[in-house]
Amino acid sequence: MNLNTENIVSRSGRFSEGPSRDVADFSESISFDYLLAESDIKGSKAHAQMLCQVGIITTEENEAIQTNLNAIKEDIEQGKFEWKSDLEDVHMNIEAELTRRTPAGSKLHTGRSRNDQVALSTRIWQRSAMKQIGESLKNLQLSLLSLAHKNESVIIPGYTHLQRAQPVYFSHHLMAYMEMFDRDYSRLTDAYKRVNVSPLGAGAIAGSTLPINRELTAKLLEFVDEEGVPQVAHNSMDAISDRDFMLEFAFICSLIAVHISRLAEDFILWSSSEFSFITVSDAYTTGSSLMPQKKNMDIAELSRGKTGRVVGNLVSLLVLLKGLPMTYNRDLQEDKERIFDSWKTVLLTLDIWANMLKCVNVRADSCRKAASDPALLATDLVDYLVLKGMPFRLAHHAVGELVALAEKKNVLLCELGIDDFQKVNALFEKDVLEVFQLEKAMDKKHCIGSGGTKEKQKELKQWESRLAKYSL
Ligand code: ARG
Repeated sequence: MNLNTENIVSRSGRFSEGPSRDVADFSESISFDYLLAESDIKGSKAHAQMLCQVGIITTEENEAIQTNLNAIKEDIEQGKFEWKSDLEDVHMNIEAELTRRTPAGSKLHTGRSRNDQVALSTRIWQRSAMKQIGESLKNLQLSLLSLAHKNESVIIPGYTHLQRAQPVYFSHHLMAYMEMFDRDYSRLTDAYKRVNVSPLGAGAIAGSTLPINRELTAKLLEFVDEEGVPQVAHNSMDAISDRDFMLEFAFICSLIAVHISRLAEDFILWSSSEFSFITVSDAYTTGSSLMPQKKNMDIAELSRGKTGRVVGNLVSLLVLLKGLPMTYNRDLQEDKERIFDSWKTVLLTLDIWANMLKCVNVRADSCRKAASDPALLATDLVDYLVLKGMPFRLAHHAVGELVALAEKKNVLLCELGIDDFQKVNALFEKDVLEVFQLEKAMDKKHCIGSGGTKEKQKELKQWESRLAKYSL
């Protein structure tokens, strides 16, 4: 067999011929794992540095590797690098090119295997992917917060079972999403600790007899904890077959997508003529090819739709791992497209929402109209009786009777006469009608997290300091 640089890298001496065309096409991953190029080069540079420091390669060889890897990185960034599917994946493409450029390249793979190499590259890639998602998540929260501030005093009906329940501040409703995204952020921070562990040096399955220094490469690649202590995977078999970190990432992406999807559903409802709580500027809506009056919430609908794909990626990964025997199996090559897709989809969705939220106009008049439904304050009427000493269950029953009476008379609850109230229960006095003053009702809610006027103000205020603490 002709021992050119490509063959040295891609074919073992055991094989007399290369794979057939269909095998090469079926098994290549370069069409998608080229995304790992930067991470792969980073990992290789640290590995070479370590090989040099422990005396396995010379300073000159290390320098040749470093310089040529830098040049290859530049070529890739400028789109000048020619990816070859015959070389299967990103790792072999880069190593073959390095070896073509310098004979020292053939020493780079000393003490490592593609098994620890691919695990390393993916972890390095995922660390920055998680940081990007964190950044975009925070941006979305800032937009959400500013929309809440702009409409701080707007009141809307809150819904349970999609039936009008109790009045809430629009801003309190938005801040419920702030909490969801905040939990997503803390999940990212927590999962980051587990992705930030170096598998390099685990080799193919059982480490190496060579005097490699795993802690050194871990340090060089910033796989360290808050105290700067290198984080090295403890078990070589787990190091190369573990994909839990990807599953966690896929789950976090799924939950973020689900949260956006719920927000999308609210926005779609709110923008309908039936609700008319919001309008979204033309730039973020679309028309109909047939019906001239239509203004559709396509961004929200697409976000809701894309969530299906992101959840699907998580399920694919779970099923991928489910029956795998230890340790590395080629099945694992299928992991990357799933996390790449989840990352990209969620990132794009977060970014477009951060922009779209700046173009949302809240229709205070329609919100006011909907929130003025006095039935929303039926629970406050129950509390009125409770405060006068009536047991809750009986008070609930009495107000139920009033609701039925109003329905029968075809009037609003607040339009019943004082004699109607007193007929149902003598505890009702003239001041009962004050219960229906919406702003007063909002002021009366004092308990923590209730979204009453003062609580809502506090809630809005604390977000600045909560967001300032975000770091990944
Ligand atoms: N392209 C492979 C992957 O993505 C790299 C690891 C291949 N290892 C091996 N022993 N064939 O998983």
